[in-house]
Amino acid sequence: MALLRVDQAVAAIAGSQVLRRVSVDIAAGETLALIGRNGAGKTSLLRVIMGALPLVEGKIEFSGRDITSMPAHERVGLGIGYAPEERRLIGKFTVQENILLPAWAGRLGAAEIQERLELIYFVAPELKDLSPRFGGLLSGGQQKMVALGRALMAGKHMVLLDEPFQGLAPALAQAYAGMLRALRDARPDLAILVTESNPQLLQSMADRMIVLERGEVQPGAVETTTVQRL
Ligand SMILES: Nc1ncnc2c1ncn2[C@@H]1O[C@H](COP(=O)(O)OP(=O)(O)OP(=O)(O)O)[C@@H](O)[C@H]1O
Ligand SMILES: [Mg+2]
Repeated sequence: MALLRVDQAVAAIAGSQVLRRVSVDIAAGETLALIGRNGAGKTSLLRVIMGALPLVEGKIEFSGRDITSMPAHERVGLGIGYAPEERRLIGKFTVQENILLPAWAGRLGAAEIQERLELIYFVAPELKDLSPRFGGLLSGGQQKMVALGRALMAGKHMVLLDEPFQGLAPALAQAYAGMLRALRDARPDLAILVTESNPQLLQSMADRMIVLERGEVQPGAVETTTVQRL
């Protein structure tokens, strides 16, 4: 059974359709790459999943439950973490406080918070060193790492990463890819949905790729075999 099922989703912004009957399934443990050019609808699809953009038509199911009309704030408890494109760190909060925000919003227990922090610092050890620094004093690349940490705090079952590689220097992009691989090894049941405009970056990492163009899924999802995984 799919962990997340988006079925024939239609969404509009300012009267024009940005998603046109988009259907996407993702299974537990699967890494799905969502590829598309600027304006293709990648961010819109993630926002629809998070409940930030309403559906005009279609349906969203999570763990077999219809969440189409569940308000965004109630989805916090579903265990879906989201690292938006523009990161949205709070400058006056430390790195660790920024990572903990979803834990406070979702009222996670102390043991669960501790467990997630350990995973986050295992996957991204640099974050441990940065933890007392203020969010506003980090480089763009460092902020992307914090955004990943924050997504993992909320994302017990799934994380949505919106163009995490965009704007990263090649060395940082490699480091980030290494973190995602470490994450997959440490949490083999976690579903990862990651968007990117360049398919090459994710080819070696994703189990499957789908291409969005002008709000539509292009036919023929690309299966990338586990053998190709690095
Ligand atoms: N705030 C907005 N107001 C009006 N139109 C918008 C707004 N946000 C997005 N759109 C439009 O919705 C469509 C889909 O945008 P979306 O942000 O989902 O694309 P994307 O694939 O994430 O692009 P990018 O790679 O640039 O992040 C585009 O045509 C875009 O112009
Ligand atoms: Mg986008």
